[in-house]
Amino acid sequence: MKKLLSVRHLKKYFPLSGNGIFRSNVRFLRANDDISLDIYAGETFGLVGESGCGKSTFGRVILQLLPQTAGSTVYYGRDENGIDLSKLSPAEMRPLRQDLQIIFQDPYSSLNPRMTVGQILEEGPLTHGMYRRGDPALREHILRVTEECGLQEFMLSRYPHQFSGGQRQRISIARSLAVRPKFIVCDECVSALDVSIQSQILNLLQDLKERERLTYLFISHNLSVVRYLSDRIGVMYLGKMVEVAPTDLLFAHPAHPYTAALLSAVPTTEPESDTSRKEILSGGNLPDPADPPDGCPFHPRCPQACDRCRREKPLLLETASGHFAACHFPLPQ
Ligand SMILES: Nc1ncnc2c1ncn2[C@@H]1O[C@H](COP(=O)(O)OP(=O)(O)OP(=O)(O)O)[C@@H](O)[C@H]1O
Ligand code: SF4
Ligand SMILES: [Mg+2]
Repeated sequence: MKKLLSVRHLKKYFPLSGNGIFRSNVRFLRANDDISLDIYAGETFGLVGESGCGKSTFGRVILQLLPQTAGSTVYYGRDENGIDLSKLSPAEMRPLRQDLQIIFQDPYSSLNPRMTVGQILEEGPLTHGMYRRGDPALREHILRVTEECGLQEFMLSRYPHQFSGGQRQRISIARSLAVRPKFIVCDECVSALDVSIQSQILNLLQDLKERERLTYLFISHNLSVVRYLSDRIGVMYLGKMVEVAPTDLLFAHPAHPYTAALLSAVPTTEPESDTSRKEILSGGNLPDPADPPDGCPFHPRCPQACDRCRREKPLLLETASGHFAACHFPLPQ
């Protein structure tokens, strides 16, 4: 499979305010701490983990919507030798924005209320010089995208507030799709919707992916949703990637104790589901990301933790073909 993005040693540190006047005293919140990951063309890579573990930060940093503190993010969609997005100026990044889109959770605040749906959809293609204003081909293009996203022509002259949440999310998707992107970060893009509407939007994303040969980074705290769409899944904990595996393998044989705990917290009808693992996460003792524990970041909550775990940081290593885990004692496969 061809790589579309190759991320190496990506760090995103946010400075914490109120730490004295000396630069050396400034503390940092390590929202993303040394993440390396390849995303392949045509795949849906799911990203899961508890609130605050750094998923949205990662999605924004790889698109350079937030500057990357360290590391590289190489994009192969334009040039087979790759372009390191982290080295580009905003002006150099601008044309690449056409390829790299994001869909947010909240379709209410992410659409300009003063623009009609038609104007919202035309904006990207005009900005990226795909068409000139008033060009009949632009109108045709917008109508095609409208139809692809399950919207109707009469909707183009209306305003976002005249639509339901599900329809607004279709408009957000259509807006991203109108520039014919290659890669889309979907950040909790169905979380705000009713369950019945969620599945319609997920099916739409799946259809569009196949039709347009898109690649997704699909971020969600909802494991069932991620399982449904993703080819591979990455699990984050305190700013680090702790496990990466093909979806079926991750669900059948999690290698990292944290992943096992996350999976056991998914609501199930099975009476014998593992309650001791569930308690690991319900304990609520998530460490402060500004002051992460030494050694393995999961050690204060891990039922298997030993001395080595408290001292030595585990690296993300391949435990089986295509299955990576950052744990000194991965669970038996
Ligand atoms: N602009 C910012 N300035 C300072 N800290 C930030 C900023 N954005 C995020 N953070 C912090 O970085 C950490 C990761 O946040 P992020 O939003 O990436 O998490 P998340 O996994 O997307 O969480 P959620 O599931 O709640 O959306 C959190 O501790 C958060 O408070
Ligand atoms: S390294 Fe140790 S503490 Fe960390 S997840 Fe593995 S067993 Fe648990
Ligand atoms: Mg988030």
